[in-house]
Amino acid sequence: MRHLLAIDDLERSDVEELMELTDSFLEVSGREIAKVPALRGRTVVSLFYEDSTRTRISFETAAKRLSADTMTFGVSGSSAAKGESLRDTVRTIEAMGIDAVVVRHASAGAPQRVAGWIDAGVVNAGDGRHEHPTQALLDCYTLRRRLGPSLEGLRVAIVGDVANSRVARSDVKALRLLGAQITLVAPPTLLPSSLRGWPAEVAHDLDSVLSDVDVVILLRLQRERQSEALFPSLREYSLRYGMTADRARRLGPDALVMHPGPMNRGVEIDAEVADGARSTITEQVGNGVAVRMAVLYRMLASGGTDV
Ligand code: CP
Repeated sequence: MRHLLAIDDLERSDVEELMELTDSFLEVSGREIAKVPALRGRTVVSLFYEDSTRTRISFETAAKRLSADTMTFGVSGSSAAKGESLRDTVRTIEAMGIDAVVVRHASAGAPQRVAGWIDAGVVNAGDGRHEHPTQALLDCYTLRRRLGPSLEGLRVAIVGDVANSRVARSDVKALRLLGAQITLVAPPTLLPSSLRGWPAEVAHDLDSVLSDVDVVILLRLQRERQSEALFPSLREYSLRYGMTADRARRLGPDALVMHPGPMNRGVEIDAEVADGARSTITEQVGNGVAVRMAVLYRMLASGGTDV
């Protein structure tokens, strides 16, 4: 695995292998000294042109737990703020001697462009409305930890701002690859203009699907990517598509509620549900470190390196 730019880069067997590798790294993360020498001498750069809490810290923690050296790039305080291009920036950083770049960018396709300019491996950490592959891998891993290794036939509803969500795109592909059945639940204004190529059913009424799903993945309203009013008000959105405590009570007894974060509490999810027994939100974040260790290890470890 030279790069990880999109879930389409992976076969089902690759995802399953990454999940098994993640089991090993979750064990490492639970040790008193949560560190292995697998990537000693390698350098991983976080290149974040867009804000992030979870993904950036998670990748940096993952690289450190693998004993890689890490560098962090943020637009503020860098020469990008003076107008330096993305191409010049990545080529400058590569000249310092690096092995992998973790790229987040507001433009869809930016990580792919970066992969074409440099020899180092590139991981997409979220590009515009396109993809967020490691979020999808950690969502799949969290479900496997909770429900067992097979997701075949699992009924998953992905609710909310599908049109603007890179998480939705990656989740649909990864979950389908593992055999889950997906229903997108959103008002027509928050669905992509064409659903060709989306292997998913569509529903507009959240209440009508609640009793028929095993997992509900709530999406953040991506207000920074919405250029017009796509629903009457936040209150109206929450009334129709929010996971309220009342809706959570109407889910099946073992149904799970997921959210990639950051959450708009009281809009797409009520605090009582986010912090309740069905919620996997904190586990998703914790599992994300081990998933990203597995991805970096697959990209950078030379053959035969012990975990
Ligand atoms: N889920 C996610 O990508 O969160 P951050 O924007 O905090 O990285």
